[in-house]
Amino acid sequence: MNLLVTGGCGFIGSNFIRFVHNARPQWKITNLDALTYSGNPENLADLDSQPWYTFTHGSINDRTLLDKLMPQADAVVHFAAESHVDRSILDSGPFIQTNIVGTQCLLDALRANDINKRFVHVSTDEVYGELPIDKPDVKFTEQTPIAPNSPYSASKAGSDLLVAAYHHTFSLDTVITRCSNNFGPYQFPEKVIPLFVTNLIEGKKVPLYGDGQNIRDWIHVDDHCEAVLAVLEKGKPGQAYNIGGNNEQSNLQLTRAILETLGKGKDMIQHVEDRLGHDRRYAIDCSKMKQELNWQPTRSAWPQALEKTVQWYTENETWWRNVKSGQYRQYYQQQYGNRTTN
Ligand code: NAD
Ligand code: TYD
Repeated sequence: MNLLVTGGCGFIGSNFIRFVHNARPQWKITNLDALTYSGNPENLADLDSQPWYTFTHGSINDRTLLDKLMPQADAVVHFAAESHVDRSILDSGPFIQTNIVGTQCLLDALRANDINKRFVHVSTDEVYGELPIDKPDVKFTEQTPIAPNSPYSASKAGSDLLVAAYHHTFSLDTVITRCSNNFGPYQFPEKVIPLFVTNLIEGKKVPLYGDGQNIRDWIHVDDHCEAVLAVLEKGKPGQAYNIGGNNEQSNLQLTRAILETLGKGKDMIQHVEDRLGHDRRYAIDCSKMKQELNWQPTRSAWPQALEKTVQWYTENETWWRNVKSGQYRQYYQQQYGNRTTN
């Protein structure tokens, strides 16, 4: 198997490349990444000389490059995206360009090369919009209507609809995954868990949005990677699969758990203005993954999984300090040049 992974220098993509290599050591993997602010080759620095791994610096919006890469791939797993809700509120432009136009470019390159290559589109539960916090039994299923609320989730929903349309119209072998909030090693410290953990290690307070009652369903990144691999190998063409951790926590519960793990007090919480349009609750019904693909989360249960992740950040200070200070970025910009988007 020659697998083309897009966005493999990001948080989930880099964990996925490691996960797949351990699970399928005979596979060859090409990682196409534009190295935006969140793409960091350091996440995979130890793989550079491995014969099964190739890094290609470039954009999913570069059709000429895609036409070179696509014939060598047997399947594509598409992670590349602008991924942070707060950034999409500040400027939605890059989200439309990468998440929608970039996905269209990939789909067209696939169509022009071989429509029988499997294309896994990695999406998010946020495309379903939000759930109420007072109805804990209600969860997102694959039948829940798409109703995104943020510019980020709207751009992901746009790409999901394009993927479904290319399956319907051109019979491309596509599958869509919709996962809840991930946590684990190598997550860019703008997302809440690494931001709060690293702030606390630095002696800074943690900015909790609004009343802190918003709920997210937290899944360990390795559970997500295992699920994406199952969908790649066994998912039915044209289908969408929900992936979750069965682990709902309010932001206040999450913050308290992090404080406790690091031995810090509640005085380190700084209550700040709420995020605009802040979705109240996400919760995933992933029974389809269990019934059809025999997958369920096994690494996401708290407090152990959270404690292990906090420990990773305490043991890998150089990594996140260099990310936060822009040290890696400066180095890789010199090596590879600025982001290419076409
Ligand atoms: P991330 O921001 O850490 O990584 C994104 C990667 O994509 C980076 O390496 C970046 O350089 C690359 N990239 C951006 N634009 C590109 C382009 N034009 N061409 C090639 N590469 C480009 O994001 P993440 O958290 O790892 O998320 C990966 C995927 O998973 C995204 O599609 C996201 O929507 C989805 N997802 C994330 C979560 C989560 O909790 N983080 C949950 C569900 C789904
Ligand atoms: P985030 O990690 O940005 O993921 P998403 O918006 O995709 O769910 O945020 C997770 C939750 O944490 C979300 O409800 C917003 C909240 N949050 C804060 O309270 N403070 C912060 O500084 C950040 C980044 C997020």
